[in-house]
Amino acid sequence: MTRGSLERPVGVGLLGCGNVGAALVQLLADDSGIEARSGMRLRLAGVAVADTARQRQGVPPELLTGDADALVASDDVEVVVELIGGLDPARRLVEAALRAGKPVVTANKELLGTHGASLASLADDAGVDLLYEAAVAGAIPLVRVLRESLAGEQVRRVTGIVNGTTNFILTMMSDRKMDYADVLAEAQHLGLAERDPTADVEGHDAAAKAAIIASLAFRCDIGAPQVPREGISAIRPLDIAFAEQLGYVVKLLAVAERVDHLDRREPGRANGTGDPFDASGPPVPEVSVRVHPAMLPRSHPLAAVRGAFNAVFVEGESCGEMMLYGRGAGGKPTASAVLGDLLDAAHHLRAGTSATLVPRASVRLRPAADLRCAWYIAIDVADRPGVLAAVATVFGDHGVSIRSMEQVGLGDEARLIFVTHVAREGDVRTTLEALGSLDVVENIGGVLRVAGDDEEAS
Ligand SMILES: NC(=O)c1ccc[n+]([C@@H]2O[C@H](COP(=O)([O-])OP(=O)(O)OC[C@H]3O[C@@H](n4cnc5c(N)ncnc54)[C@H](OP(=O)(O)O)[C@@H]3O)[C@@H](O)[C@H]2O)c1
Repeated sequence: MTRGSLERPVGVGLLGCGNVGAALVQLLADDSGIEARSGMRLRLAGVAVADTARQRQGVPPELLTGDADALVASDDVEVVVELIGGLDPARRLVEAALRAGKPVVTANKELLGTHGASLASLADDAGVDLLYEAAVAGAIPLVRVLRESLAGEQVRRVTGIVNGTTNFILTMMSDRKMDYADVLAEAQHLGLAERDPTADVEGHDAAAKAAIIASLAFRCDIGAPQVPREGISAIRPLDIAFAEQLGYVVKLLAVAERVDHLDRREPGRANGTGDPFDASGPPVPEVSVRVHPAMLPRSHPLAAVRGAFNAVFVEGESCGEMMLYGRGAGGKPTASAVLGDLLDAAHHLRAGTSATLVPRASVRLRPAADLRCAWYIAIDVADRPGVLAAVATVFGDHGVSIRSMEQVGLGDEARLIFVTHVAREGDVRTTLEALGSLDVVENIGGVLRVAGDDEEAS
């Protein structure tokens, strides 16, 4: 018998009993199993929901309440699990719990991505846990790995497929050569996409997760609004087919990377001054955090991540490369991560301690315009003599050098598919603007970054 099992059970206040909350209730019902595995006894003290009239499997009716504030304040509740989602009332309830000195476990990426820093500081002041393993990649234990296992590591880059809906859509578009809209409809039918899919397909969900990942990886405070994002709704099957022809797959990536080590040519940047002659002051790490679709070489470990699965590829100075792979969503997998946090919080509470705090450092965010990578650009043009030269001149005038070009005839039109050498994003954007104003250019269709080409990126 372990020490925890001798103590009285830890009272748990559950806020929300939807997909994840209901799965957590089921896991908690396996009381003896949890105690045997963890040495900790948990007791569900109450479950707050919006609609108390609806019966919930495994929840005794007397535990249901519509008054979440009262549940948080109840003396029977020692740890609060927030599974309502969204900002309001989740923020108010989490703040109230932390102010009352009660540890909080949440799966709420929106809340963490927006108010993570202020909530962490409240938890710090109260000396209690704020744990959110399930908020980033569902069942995948990434938060713990970044916070604890890699606490001494200099993380160079974290690249994640952290949104199962978009990965499912891109996988289906590739496998079945289907249009985005048709696959989205199928994903909605299968329950893999929301009725309003904006948060997933436009990258908001991934941006909140990227902000959390970056804040952990670089020990800093980055919020979702600071993360530039692009979604997948403009991607066409023909772009995916071209990518495949060139040896790539198209994925929506959340990237958090340190970029100052790439700046040996520009010494001043590392001090955050941008002045190459200024070597004064302590170096402030410069990072880039972003969400966008990208062409990834087929040989990259993330290229093999298909369907609704998530994976996160971590690169560090000493640890090298590692990949964590698993289910990023779904009631039960997410509840499994919540339960792990809940047991940690309960152990810490009984031991009078709290999880390792992440010290906060200053970083500079590199503007997207200053990032450099290779690009895939597909342009439909009038099929006339001289057009190719005119288009190539625009690339050259803006300092974007072409690595390869392929031409496909389309009757009176032609499609030109360019892959550039590594170029500054700002220069690529002005190139695209200038191309758009050429009268021979009918349409600029696919524009995708080419990722994972470290020899080239700078
Ligand atoms: N679903 C996933 O696969 C997944 C994966 C990772 C993370 N997450 C995160 O986990 C959290 C929960 O997601 P979910 O899918 O379980 O959400 P959900 O199915 O929509 O459940 C939300 C729950 O909150 C309750 N609720 C709403 N407003 C409330 C209020 N004012 N007071 C008390 N309860 C209230 C709802 O009550 P009723 O039941 O009465 O409507 C429902 O039980 C979110 O932050 C989400 O981002 C979910």
